[in-house]
Amino acid sequence: MTQPVSDEAPLHFNAFDMLVPVHQSPGLWRHPESQIDQFDQLSYWTGLSQTLEQAGFSCLFLADVPGVYDVYGGDHQASARGGVQFPLLDLQVIIPALAQATEHLGFGITASATYEHPYLLARRFATLDHLTGGRIAWNIVTSYQESAARNLGLSGQIPHDERYDRADEFMEVMYKLFETSFDDDAVTINRQDGVFVDPQKVHQIGHSSRWYQVPGPMLTHPGPQRTPLLFQAGSSARGQQFAVDHGEAIFVVNANTKSLAAQVVDTRRKLAEAGRAPESVKFFAMATVIVAETEAEAQQRLEQYREYVDTEAALALFGGWTGVDLSGLDEEAYVEDVTTDANQSALAFFTKDPRRRWTVRDIAEFVSIGGRGPTIVGDPQQVVDQLLHYRRVTGIDGFNISAAVRPADFERFVHYITPELQRRGLLAERPDTPRTLRETLLGAGPHLAEDHPGSRAQMAKYVHTVV
Ligand SMILES: Cc1cc2nc3c(=O)[nH]c(=O)nc-3n(C[C@H](O)[C@H](O)[C@H](O)COP(=O)(O)O)c2cc1C
Repeated sequence: MTQPVSDEAPLHFNAFDMLVPVHQSPGLWRHPESQIDQFDQLSYWTGLSQTLEQAGFSCLFLADVPGVYDVYGGDHQASARGGVQFPLLDLQVIIPALAQATEHLGFGITASATYEHPYLLARRFATLDHLTGGRIAWNIVTSYQESAARNLGLSGQIPHDERYDRADEFMEVMYKLFETSFDDDAVTINRQDGVFVDPQKVHQIGHSSRWYQVPGPMLTHPGPQRTPLLFQAGSSARGQQFAVDHGEAIFVVNANTKSLAAQVVDTRRKLAEAGRAPESVKFFAMATVIVAETEAEAQQRLEQYREYVDTEAALALFGGWTGVDLSGLDEEAYVEDVTTDANQSALAFFTKDPRRRWTVRDIAEFVSIGGRGPTIVGDPQQVVDQLLHYRRVTGIDGFNISAAVRPADFERFVHYITPELQRRGLLAERPDTPRTLRETLLGAGPHLAEDHPGSRAQMAKYVHTVV
């Protein structure tokens, strides 16, 4: 059940990016090849999407946060100076333009169950699902920033586990809206009878529970996937439970292969216990790739990248993730574990590492290239060998590739890695006719699998109020 997939199975690649100057590699925007100063130009993102499609990527997975990183030093100064996920554009606005510029590429959209409202978010996802021909995934996050809470009408963050409890109910509303509010044949467009939508085939959802009251019906008819493909990325114990309850694809970040392997095994076991086919859920691991013609050139490139890292910006990024302010600490000070209401798994990676104790300087240097994920360096053959090895030892299914220098590292992926993957038959085949993202990434049908708790088949148990 938890055997790693064979080396022969094709790999899926998603690009992991964000509409910001610095996503995962602080300081690298200053590299001479970086064009990320154009991040506010539509042509940058349409060009990148076309590059990714050409490279055989399945999806452009876009991170998003609803607040400024202001933990380090207690304000926004370091983040502003370093362009650390700031300024940040609204990703949902640009997706239709990217879909228009591509045919097969999917789009992973991060949206917060803590700060959105399910009724309007369901309409937005259904709209995007229509406009992209079903190429949409939702990265369900619960968010982790005090600054978001303060700017969005709360006096402080909702406690970590409670955010997930709320998100459970949020999902329940979404499933009701996506899966049950419209029958398949509700939209009739019958000119003769003068009926556009058959009112008998549109249903109230009658949701009324602890956090949400949504009588329905859904504002928009369902898109090709009904519910968008569901990605999930929380890794704490509560986050893992949420993944088991809702995820179809799980995004993991962990440079420690042993603990990642344990996480994959444990999650698959819990999926089986919950009555879901454990292998139907796919794991994607973040990795940053630095590739060149030869190993020596790739290493040289890495050394060159190191000249551009910005350690203050790295600590601003770390502070944003974890809620822990390391400003004013000695660089050699060890960072200890604390419980915060931020991203617990991000903090635990450093403070609960069985192999070593991390100092402030270690963290800044590690985060500077490729965030918390592994950085894979080598010639094309070595990189592919390392990706395969990583898959073999962790049991993951594919990668969310992050670029240190943007978009150069994605372009280098097309130039060096794609041909190597093709040569070895390791790139998932692309059909002539575009498919939904669920079909592409899961190899399943366009809708939620029957054993998924949100599927139409299982919705009965979600109904609180029958109207
Ligand atoms: C790989 C990964 C990617 C994430 N991406 C985002 C993101 O783009 N936006 C966001 O608000 N939270 C993001 N998160 C945060 C999670 O949704 C969650 O709020 C956070 O990890 C806290 O939950 P945890 O303690 O269960 O990990 C991400 C987390 C992980 C592990």
